[in-house]
Amino acid sequence: MSDLAWWQRGVIYQVYPRSFQDENGDGVGDLAGITARLHYLRALGVDAIWISPVYPSPMVDFGYDVADYCAIAPVFGTLGDFDRLVVHAHELGLKVLLDFVPNHSSDKHPWFMDSRSSRDNPKRDWYLWRDPAPDGGPPNNWLSRMGGSAWEKDTVTGQYYYHAFLREQPDLNWRNADVRTAMDRVLRFWLDRGVDGFRVDVLWLLIKDALFRDNPPNPQFKAGEPDHHRQLQTYTEDQPEVHDIVRSMRATLDEYGERVLIGEIYLPVPQLVSYYGPNGDGTNMPFNFQLINAPWNATEIARIVSEYDHALPLHAWPNWVLGNHDNRRVASRIGPRQARVAAMLLLTLRGTPTLYYGDEIAMADGVIPPDRVQDPAELRQPGIGQGRDPERTPMQWDGSPNAGFSSGVPWLPISGGDGINVVHQDGKASSMLTFYRCLLALRRSERALVEGAMERVVSSGNVHTYERRLGGDRLFIALNMAGADAPVEAPEGTLLLSTTEGHEGKRIEGPSLLLAGDEGIVIRASKPT
Ligand code: NOJ
Repeated sequence: MSDLAWWQRGVIYQVYPRSFQDENGDGVGDLAGITARLHYLRALGVDAIWISPVYPSPMVDFGYDVADYCAIAPVFGTLGDFDRLVVHAHELGLKVLLDFVPNHSSDKHPWFMDSRSSRDNPKRDWYLWRDPAPDGGPPNNWLSRMGGSAWEKDTVTGQYYYHAFLREQPDLNWRNADVRTAMDRVLRFWLDRGVDGFRVDVLWLLIKDALFRDNPPNPQFKAGEPDHHRQLQTYTEDQPEVHDIVRSMRATLDEYGERVLIGEIYLPVPQLVSYYGPNGDGTNMPFNFQLINAPWNATEIARIVSEYDHALPLHAWPNWVLGNHDNRRVASRIGPRQARVAAMLLLTLRGTPTLYYGDEIAMADGVIPPDRVQDPAELRQPGIGQGRDPERTPMQWDGSPNAGFSSGVPWLPISGGDGINVVHQDGKASSMLTFYRCLLALRRSERALVEGAMERVVSSGNVHTYERRLGGDRLFIALNMAGADAPVEAPEGTLLLSTTEGHEGKRIEGPSLLLAGDEGIVIRASKPT
């Protein structure tokens, strides 16, 4: 056995709690629902769940507007429910990660209500307050990621406060030592309750320019993009001082033993990898979202895979993400056939994979009628396609009208789709669910897939190939990233898994074979070179 940590060997599964399982029939998923489905997750073969925010919140941004960092929103249950979830998960060998949202609170958080109450309130400096510009307008040109100015004028004191997202999500001032102490207590509160780590929301945004300088215009801005893309985020993201904060969060987690700190960071790779910290003392893993945004073809994916592997500092452990609650679902982005290829890619690459709930049954983006739109990203910037409801529709457990998700009216419509549910796919050889279970089992049984080096990463036409090697063990992976058959040079060996069912165990003679369109394979080479 090597000395890898659990989060290096394991696979993470993101649960969007509103949409996973509703036990009390109010149409919104809850903690008791997640607990009831832990067996499913264990049997699927994942090792950890990351639960998007479950704290008390006005839910303007569905929990990413936190009104109390140390409690559970009634809609999701109670602290007792949370404790039961953690105990049960641990009994099953599953780790539990929480979503930590330190960049901003809700405007209904008592900290902000104090802060806004007067200019000399002790919590005034906990948020970012500035005088109006000489013309009475916002203090500078910074734009919100949800559209319009990032500054909101507050009538109580006549100053503006900064909000990178909604006006209901004021940004905390991380240059203030009391904010840091308060947030450190929050981490400890949950660590003491047994959580195994955190995914930290928008970690690269925590610190803003101390001089509040205007952001420069973005010469590459294209019409139709979100508003804030008009500017380069020179003074509002990735400021050097952020790394001190990351280091101190990590130090707190390390006091508790083997915990994991994951940063949500959307940055180009050279900047992204700096979040591992110069001495491996930053985040354990800055999320790597490249597979979400990449053009889906063999040349691009091979380039991304090899460049990332080379860019990683020596101490850094890689990771890969295929989907989340902020991006279109993989089955909709690249189609259901390529989604199988993408699953094979995700689970055979070097680094910790993160799966998004429902992708294991090939859920597609839902269609949301205009009168059922929930996401503020859509409601506040209509028409530019930023809405995130389609990838947040309820998990489809069975073929009944509410998909086994809820006995009430689901908060978002069921996406549906023929056979896209757990009951239908369970035990069916050709189903996505069976394929995911096989992939996860393969990753668990083949040490080379977890610990092995990444070698010979190449693309030829539409086929992307690479090898995972550990000692004399050599696994060869070939992925046809297009619909037409394609030849591939392959080693002699045994087929361990194919996206096309039923060929496992087949002898591969080499030196070449024909991959079917949209086919991916894993071969154990019989010779080490
Ligand atoms: C990133 C989260 O993933 C997203 O859902 C949220 O709207 C913003 N951060 C603001 O917290």
